[in-house]
Amino acid sequence: MAIKYELIKECKQTGARLGKIHTPHGTIETPIFMPVGTQATVKSMTPEELKEIESQIILSNTYHLYLRPGHDLVEKAGGLHKFMNWDRPILTDSGGFQVFSLGDLRKISEEGVEFRSHIDGSKHFISPEKAIEIQNSLGSDIIMAFDECAPYPADREYVKNSLERTTRWAKRCKKAHKNTDTQGLFGIIQGGIYKDMREQSAKEITELDFPGYAVGGLSVGEPKPLMYEVLEYTTPLMPKNKPRYLMGVGSPDCLIEGVIRGIDMFDCVLPTRIARNGTAMTSQGRVTIKQARFYDDFTPLDPECDCYTCRNYTKAYLRHLFKANEILSARLFSYHNLYFLLKLMKNIREAIKNDNLLDYRKEFFEKYGYEL
Ligand code: GUN
Ligand code: ZN
Repeated sequence: MAIKYELIKECKQTGARLGKIHTPHGTIETPIFMPVGTQATVKSMTPEELKEIESQIILSNTYHLYLRPGHDLVEKAGGLHKFMNWDRPILTDSGGFQVFSLGDLRKISEEGVEFRSHIDGSKHFISPEKAIEIQNSLGSDIIMAFDECAPYPADREYVKNSLERTTRWAKRCKKAHKNTDTQGLFGIIQGGIYKDMREQSAKEITELDFPGYAVGGLSVGEPKPLMYEVLEYTTPLMPKNKPRYLMGVGSPDCLIEGVIRGIDMFDCVLPTRIARNGTAMTSQGRVTIKQARFYDDFTPLDPECDCYTCRNYTKAYLRHLFKANEILSARLFSYHNLYFLLKLMKNIREAIKNDNLLDYRKEFFEKYGYEL
Protein backbone atom coordinates (compact mmCIF):
# COMPACT_ATOMS: atom_id res chain seq x y z
CA MET A 1 0.00 0.00 0.00
CA ALA A 2 1.46 3.30 -1.08
CA ILE A 3 -0.72 5.48 1.15
CA LYS A 4 -1.42 4.97 4.81
CA TYR A 5 -3.54 7.24 6.99
CA GLU A 6 -2.94 7.51 10.70
CA LEU A 7 -5.67 9.14 12.79
CA ILE A 8 -3.98 10.81 15.74
CA LYS A 9 -6.91 12.43 17.49
CA GLU A 10 -10.29 14.10 17.10
CA CYS A 11 -11.07 17.58 18.45
CA LYS A 12 -13.42 17.29 21.44
CA GLN A 13 -15.24 20.51 20.44
CA THR A 14 -15.87 19.59 16.79
CA GLY A 15 -14.77 16.07 15.88
CA ALA A 16 -12.19 17.54 13.45
CA ARG A 17 -9.39 15.08 12.71
CA LEU A 18 -5.67 15.41 13.34
CA GLY A 19 -3.73 12.85 11.35
CA LYS A 20 -0.81 11.85 9.17
CA ILE A 21 -0.66 10.49 5.65
CA HIS A 22 2.39 8.36 4.92
CA THR A 23 3.44 8.45 1.26
CA PRO A 24 6.49 7.21 -0.69
CA HIS A 25 7.85 10.79 -0.66
CA GLY A 26 7.32 11.46 3.03
CA THR A 27 4.66 12.08 5.63
CA ILE A 28 2.01 14.81 5.48
CA GLU A 29 0.37 16.27 8.58
CA THR A 30 -3.38 16.72 8.19
CA PRO A 31 -5.56 18.76 7.89
CA ILE A 32 -3.49 20.09 5.00
CA PHE A 33 -3.78 22.60 2.16
CA MET A 34 -2.15 21.65 -1.14
CA PRO A 35 -0.82 24.50 -3.31
CA VAL A 36 -1.78 23.99 -6.95
CA GLY A 37 0.94 23.47 -9.56
CA THR A 38 -1.19 22.85 -12.64
CA GLN A 39 1.65 22.81 -15.16
CA ALA A 40 4.31 21.17 -12.94
CA THR A 41 4.99 24.51 -11.28
CA VAL A 42 3.21 26.41 -8.52
CA LYS A 43 3.02 29.64 -10.47
CA SER A 44 5.96 31.95 -9.64
CA MET A 45 7.22 29.83 -6.70
CA THR A 46 10.45 27.79 -6.76
CA PRO A 47 10.47 24.44 -4.94
CA GLU A 48 12.94 25.98 -2.46
CA GLU A 49 10.44 28.73 -1.69
CA LEU A 50 7.63 26.17 -1.35
CA LYS A 51 9.75 24.36 1.25
CA GLU A 52 10.58 27.62 3.02
CA ILE A 53 6.84 28.17 3.62
CA GLU A 54 6.48 24.51 4.66
CA SER A 55 4.40 23.16 1.78
CA GLN A 56 4.13 19.46 2.50
CA ILE A 57 2.42 18.31 -0.71
CA ILE A 58 1.45 19.97 -3.97
CA LEU A 59 -1.17 19.18 -6.60
CA SER A 60 -0.67 18.94 -10.34
CA ASN A 61 -2.94 18.19 -13.29
CA THR A 62 -3.10 15.16 -15.58
CA TYR A 63 -4.97 17.03 -18.32
CA HIS A 64 -2.41 19.81 -18.68
CA LEU A 65 0.69 17.60 -18.47
CA TYR A 66 -0.79 15.13 -20.94
CA LEU A 67 -1.30 17.92 -23.50
CA ARG A 68 1.96 19.70 -22.72
CA PRO A 69 4.76 18.61 -22.47
CA GLY A 70 3.24 15.07 -22.71
CA HIS A 71 3.39 12.41 -20.01
CA ASP A 72 5.90 10.39 -22.06
CA LEU A 73 8.39 13.23 -21.76
CA VAL A 74 7.80 13.50 -17.99
CA GLU A 75 8.34 9.76 -17.69
CA LYS A 76 11.52 10.02 -19.77
CA ALA A 77 12.74 12.73 -17.39
CA GLY A 78 12.41 10.25 -14.53
CA GLY A 79 8.90 11.15 -13.36
CA LEU A 80 7.17 14.33 -12.26
CA HIS A 81 9.14 14.72 -9.01
CA LYS A 82 12.47 14.69 -10.82
CA PHE A 83 11.20 16.70 -13.80
CA MET A 84 10.10 19.62 -11.59
CA ASN A 85 12.72 19.23 -8.82
CA TRP A 86 10.16 18.57 -6.05
CA ASP A 87 10.99 15.62 -3.79
CA ARG A 88 7.97 15.84 -1.46
CA PRO A 89 4.56 14.25 -2.11
CA ILE A 90 2.53 15.15 -5.21
CA LEU A 91 -1.15 14.52 -5.88
CA THR A 92 -2.43 14.63 -9.45
CA ASP A 93 -6.04 15.24 -10.37
CA SER A 94 -7.34 12.90 -13.06
CA GLY A 95 -8.32 15.41 -15.70
CA GLY A 96 -12.02 14.65 -15.38
CA PHE A 97 -12.83 18.01 -13.88
CA GLN A 98 -10.59 19.99 -16.27
CA VAL A 99 -12.03 18.25 -19.33
CA PHE A 100 -15.61 18.85 -18.17
CA SER A 101 -14.82 22.52 -17.72
CA LEU A 102 -14.10 22.79 -21.46
CA GLY A 103 -17.81 23.23 -22.26
CA ASP A 104 -18.50 23.01 -26.00
CA LEU A 105 -15.07 21.55 -26.66
CA ARG A 106 -15.97 18.11 -25.24
CA LYS A 107 -18.22 15.07 -25.81
CA ILE A 108 -18.94 12.56 -23.02
CA SER A 109 -19.74 8.90 -23.62
CA GLU A 110 -19.60 5.76 -21.50
CA GLU A 111 -16.16 5.03 -22.92
CA GLY A 112 -14.68 8.41 -21.88
CA VAL A 113 -14.44 12.04 -22.95
CA GLU A 114 -13.51 13.35 -26.36
CA PHE A 115 -12.25 16.91 -26.31
CA ARG A 116 -10.31 19.56 -28.15
CA SER A 117 -7.09 20.90 -26.69
CA HIS A 118 -7.38 24.41 -25.24
CA ILE A 119 -3.86 24.99 -26.62
CA ASP A 120 -4.08 24.11 -30.33
CA GLY A 121 -7.58 22.72 -30.90
CA SER A 122 -6.29 19.19 -31.61
CA LYS A 123 -8.64 16.25 -30.86
CA HIS A 124 -8.02 13.91 -27.91
CA PHE A 125 -9.75 11.16 -25.98
CA ILE A 126 -9.35 10.42 -22.28
CA SER A 127 -10.90 7.30 -20.79
CA PRO A 128 -10.62 6.11 -17.19
CA GLU A 129 -7.85 3.74 -18.35
CA LYS A 130 -6.01 6.56 -20.13
CA ALA A 131 -6.26 8.88 -17.09
CA ILE A 132 -4.65 6.17 -14.95
CA GLU A 133 -2.00 5.36 -17.56
CA ILE A 134 -1.01 9.05 -17.67
CA GLN A 135 -0.87 9.31 -13.88
CA ASN A 136 1.13 6.07 -13.71
CA SER A 137 3.76 7.66 -16.00
CA LEU A 138 3.80 10.88 -14.00
CA GLY A 139 4.56 8.93 -10.80
CA SER A 140 2.62 11.15 -8.39
CA ASP A 141 2.14 9.71 -4.89
CA ILE A 142 -1.64 10.12 -4.93
CA ILE A 143 -3.61 9.74 -8.15
CA MET A 144 -7.31 10.43 -8.63
CA ALA A 145 -10.00 8.35 -10.29
CA PHE A 146 -11.49 9.71 -13.53
CA ASP A 147 -14.91 11.05 -12.51
CA GLU A 148 -17.77 13.12 -13.87
CA CYS A 149 -18.44 16.27 -11.89
CA ALA A 150 -22.01 17.49 -12.39
CA PRO A 151 -22.41 21.26 -12.71
CA TYR A 152 -24.50 23.35 -10.32
CA PRO A 153 -27.40 23.56 -10.69
CA ALA A 154 -28.19 20.15 -12.23
CA ASP A 155 -31.43 18.16 -12.00
CA ARG A 156 -31.73 14.83 -10.20
CA GLU A 157 -31.63 12.73 -13.33
CA TYR A 158 -28.45 14.35 -14.60
CA VAL A 159 -26.72 13.96 -11.23
CA LYS A 160 -27.84 10.34 -10.86
CA ASN A 161 -26.48 9.42 -14.28
CA SER A 162 -23.16 11.14 -13.62
CA LEU A 163 -22.66 9.59 -10.17
CA GLU A 164 -23.44 6.11 -11.51
CA ARG A 165 -21.05 6.61 -14.40
CA THR A 166 -18.46 7.83 -11.88
CA THR A 167 -18.82 4.50 -10.04
CA ARG A 168 -18.42 2.46 -13.24
CA TRP A 169 -15.39 4.56 -14.17
CA ALA A 170 -13.92 4.16 -10.66
CA LYS A 171 -14.01 0.36 -11.10
CA ARG A 172 -12.23 0.68 -14.45
CA CYS A 173 -9.63 3.01 -12.88
CA LYS A 174 -8.95 0.53 -10.12
CA LYS A 175 -8.47 -2.26 -12.62
CA ALA A 176 -6.16 -0.16 -14.82
CA HIS A 177 -3.91 1.03 -11.96
CA LYS A 178 -0.50 -0.64 -12.23
CA ASN A 179 1.64 0.93 -9.49
CA THR A 180 -0.35 0.15 -6.35
CA ASP A 181 2.88 -0.12 -4.30
CA THR A 182 4.09 3.38 -5.14
CA GLN A 183 0.92 5.35 -5.97
CA GLY A 184 -2.33 5.50 -4.02
CA LEU A 185 -5.53 5.76 -6.08
CA PHE A 186 -8.30 7.80 -4.43
CA GLY A 187 -11.99 7.35 -5.25
CA ILE A 188 -14.24 10.39 -5.75
CA ILE A 189 -17.75 10.69 -4.34
CA GLN A 190 -20.24 12.63 -6.47
CA GLY A 191 -23.99 13.17 -6.09
CA GLY A 192 -24.37 16.95 -6.25
CA ILE A 193 -26.54 18.48 -3.56
CA TYR A 194 -28.90 15.49 -3.27
CA LYS A 195 -28.61 13.60 0.01
CA ASP A 196 -29.82 10.23 -1.28
CA MET A 197 -27.38 10.43 -4.17
CA ARG A 198 -24.42 11.34 -1.97
CA GLU A 199 -25.40 8.29 0.11
CA GLN A 200 -25.55 6.09 -2.98
CA SER A 201 -22.23 7.39 -4.31
CA ALA A 202 -20.46 7.11 -0.92
CA LYS A 203 -21.65 3.50 -0.58
CA GLU A 204 -20.66 2.49 -4.11
CA ILE A 205 -17.26 4.21 -4.04
CA THR A 206 -16.20 3.16 -0.53
CA GLU A 207 -17.12 -0.47 -1.33
CA LEU A 208 -14.32 -0.39 -3.90
CA ASP A 209 -11.83 0.02 -1.02
CA PHE A 210 -9.52 2.83 -2.13
CA PRO A 211 -6.68 4.08 0.15
CA GLY A 212 -8.40 7.50 0.30
CA TYR A 213 -11.59 9.27 -0.76
CA ALA A 214 -12.45 12.68 -2.16
CA VAL A 215 -15.67 14.64 -2.11
CA GLY A 216 -16.07 16.04 -5.62
CA GLY A 217 -18.73 18.17 -7.24
CA LEU A 218 -18.68 20.90 -4.58
CA SER A 219 -17.56 24.53 -4.77
CA VAL A 220 -19.00 24.64 -8.29
CA GLY A 221 -21.22 27.68 -7.69
CA GLU A 222 -23.57 26.48 -4.95
CA PRO A 223 -24.04 28.73 -1.88
CA LYS A 224 -21.56 27.98 0.91
CA PRO A 225 -24.19 26.90 3.49
CA LEU A 226 -25.39 24.28 0.99
CA MET A 227 -21.85 22.95 0.58
CA TYR A 228 -21.50 22.74 4.38
CA GLU A 229 -24.79 20.82 4.57
CA VAL A 230 -23.65 18.31 1.93
CA LEU A 231 -20.38 17.80 3.82
CA GLU A 232 -22.25 17.31 7.07
CA TYR A 233 -24.09 14.26 5.76
CA THR A 234 -21.35 12.97 3.44
CA THR A 235 -18.23 12.76 5.64
CA PRO A 236 -19.90 10.43 8.21
CA LEU A 237 -20.35 7.97 5.31
CA MET A 238 -16.59 7.92 4.67
CA PRO A 239 -14.31 5.46 6.49
CA LYS A 240 -12.53 6.87 9.53
CA ASN A 241 -9.25 5.14 8.73
CA LYS A 242 -8.74 6.76 5.31
CA PRO A 243 -7.93 10.35 4.31
CA ARG A 244 -10.81 12.59 3.16
CA TYR A 245 -10.15 15.19 0.48
CA LEU A 246 -12.46 18.08 -0.45
CA MET A 247 -11.59 19.01 -4.02
CA GLY A 248 -11.21 22.59 -5.21
CA VAL A 249 -11.79 24.36 -1.90
CA GLY A 250 -9.47 26.97 -0.50
CA SER A 251 -11.03 30.12 0.96
CA PRO A 252 -10.13 30.49 4.65
CA ASP A 253 -13.74 30.13 5.89
CA CYS A 254 -14.36 26.99 3.80
CA LEU A 255 -11.11 25.44 5.04
CA ILE A 256 -12.14 25.87 8.67
CA GLU A 257 -15.74 24.75 8.05
CA GLY A 258 -14.49 21.77 6.02
CA VAL A 259 -12.14 20.61 8.78
CA ILE A 260 -14.96 20.95 11.33
CA ARG A 261 -17.00 18.58 9.12
CA GLY A 262 -14.24 15.98 9.02
CA ILE A 263 -12.14 16.87 5.95
CA ASP A 264 -8.35 16.27 5.94
CA MET A 265 -7.13 17.63 2.59
CA PHE A 266 -7.88 20.64 0.38
CA ASP A 267 -6.57 22.26 -2.80
CA CYS A 268 -7.44 25.46 -4.63
CA VAL A 269 -5.97 27.91 -7.14
CA LEU A 270 -7.50 30.80 -5.16
CA PRO A 271 -4.39 31.97 -3.20
CA THR A 272 -2.10 32.00 -6.24
CA ARG A 273 -4.75 33.28 -8.67
CA ILE A 274 -5.78 36.30 -6.60
CA ALA A 275 -2.08 36.91 -5.86
CA ARG A 276 -1.55 37.67 -9.53
CA ASN A 277 -4.39 40.23 -9.31
CA GLY A 278 -2.65 41.93 -6.41
CA THR A 279 -5.02 40.58 -3.75
CA ALA A 280 -3.79 39.28 -0.40
CA MET A 281 -5.52 37.17 2.24
CA THR A 282 -4.61 38.71 5.58
CA SER A 283 -5.58 38.23 9.22
CA GLN A 284 -7.83 41.28 8.79
CA GLY A 285 -9.49 40.08 5.58
CA ARG A 286 -8.67 40.64 1.92
CA VAL A 287 -6.40 43.48 0.83
CA THR A 288 -6.71 44.71 -2.78
CA ILE A 289 -3.45 46.50 -3.38
CA LYS A 290 -4.57 48.63 -6.35
CA GLN A 291 -6.77 50.74 -4.05
CA ALA A 292 -5.63 54.38 -3.91
CA ARG A 293 -5.54 54.38 -0.10
CA PHE A 294 -2.38 52.25 -0.20
CA TYR A 295 -0.43 54.80 -2.29
CA ASP A 296 1.65 55.94 0.69
CA ASP A 297 0.93 53.13 3.16
CA PHE A 298 4.33 52.09 4.48
CA THR A 299 3.05 49.24 6.66
CA PRO A 300 3.25 45.53 5.70
CA LEU A 301 0.44 43.66 3.89
CA ASP A 302 -0.46 41.85 7.09
CA PRO A 303 0.89 43.22 10.38
CA GLU A 304 0.49 39.78 11.97
CA CYS A 305 2.33 37.87 9.25
CA ASP A 306 6.02 37.01 9.46
CA CYS A 307 6.50 35.80 5.89
CA TYR A 308 9.31 37.11 3.64
CA THR A 309 6.96 39.54 1.90
CA CYS A 310 5.57 41.03 5.11
CA ARG A 311 8.97 41.23 6.82
CA ASN A 312 10.56 43.17 3.96
CA TYR A 313 8.06 45.18 1.92
CA THR A 314 5.43 47.86 2.41
CA LYS A 315 1.99 48.10 0.83
CA ALA A 316 3.14 51.26 -0.97
CA TYR A 317 5.99 49.35 -2.64
CA LEU A 318 3.79 46.32 -3.45
CA ARG A 319 1.18 48.66 -4.97
CA HIS A 320 3.89 50.28 -7.09
CA LEU A 321 5.10 46.86 -8.34
CA PHE A 322 1.55 45.81 -9.17
CA LYS A 323 0.69 49.06 -10.97
CA ALA A 324 3.96 48.88 -12.93
CA ASN A 325 3.18 45.28 -13.97
CA GLU A 326 6.39 44.00 -12.44
CA ILE A 327 6.67 40.19 -12.09
CA LEU A 328 7.99 40.51 -8.55
CA SER A 329 4.45 41.55 -7.54
CA ALA A 330 3.01 38.12 -8.45
CA ARG A 331 5.90 36.41 -6.66
CA LEU A 332 5.58 38.36 -3.41
CA PHE A 333 1.78 38.05 -3.28
CA SER A 334 1.86 34.32 -4.08
CA TYR A 335 4.47 33.77 -1.40
CA HIS A 336 2.39 35.62 1.18
CA ASN A 337 -0.99 34.04 0.29
CA LEU A 338 0.35 30.49 0.38
CA TYR A 339 2.20 31.22 3.60
CA PHE A 340 -1.04 32.60 5.06
CA LEU A 341 -3.10 29.50 4.18
CA LEU A 342 -0.41 27.05 5.31
CA LYS A 343 -0.13 28.94 8.59
CA LEU A 344 -3.93 28.80 8.94
CA MET A 345 -3.81 25.01 8.51
CA LYS A 346 -1.02 24.80 11.08
CA ASN A 347 -3.13 26.82 13.53
CA ILE A 348 -6.10 24.53 12.81
CA ARG A 349 -3.97 21.46 13.58
CA GLU A 350 -2.84 23.12 16.81
CA ALA A 351 -6.46 23.92 17.75
CA ILE A 352 -7.48 20.28 17.16
CA LYS A 353 -4.61 19.22 19.43
CA ASN A 354 -5.92 21.61 22.09
CA ASP A 355 -9.60 20.67 21.58
CA ASN A 356 -10.53 24.30 20.88
CA LEU A 357 -11.24 24.56 17.15
CA LEU A 358 -14.60 26.32 17.74
CA ASP A 359 -12.83 29.01 19.76
CA TYR A 360 -10.21 29.35 17.04
CA ARG A 361 -12.91 29.69 14.36
CA LYS A 362 -14.62 32.47 16.34
CA GLU A 363 -11.38 34.38 16.83
CA PHE A 364 -10.33 33.98 13.18
CA PHE A 365 -13.75 34.91 11.73
CA GLU A 366 -14.06 38.02 13.90
CA LYS A 367 -10.73 39.36 12.73
CA TYR A 368 -11.15 38.34 9.10
CA GLY A 369 -14.61 39.90 8.96
CA TYR A 370 -16.61 36.73 8.27
CA GLU A 371 -20.05 36.19 9.72
CA LEU A 372 -20.30 33.08 11.87
N1 GUN B 1 -11.68 19.53 -8.62
C1 GUN B 1 -12.69 20.20 -8.04
N2 GUN B 1 -13.82 19.46 -8.04
C2 GUN B 1 -13.51 18.29 -8.65
C3 GUN B 1 -14.27 17.11 -8.96
O1 GUN B 1 -15.47 16.99 -8.68
N3 GUN B 1 -13.59 16.11 -9.59
C4 GUN B 1 -12.27 16.21 -9.92
N4 GUN B 1 -11.66 15.19 -10.55
N5 GUN B 1 -11.53 17.30 -9.64
C5 GUN B 1 -12.16 18.33 -9.01
ZN1 ZN C 1 2.95 37.75 4.75
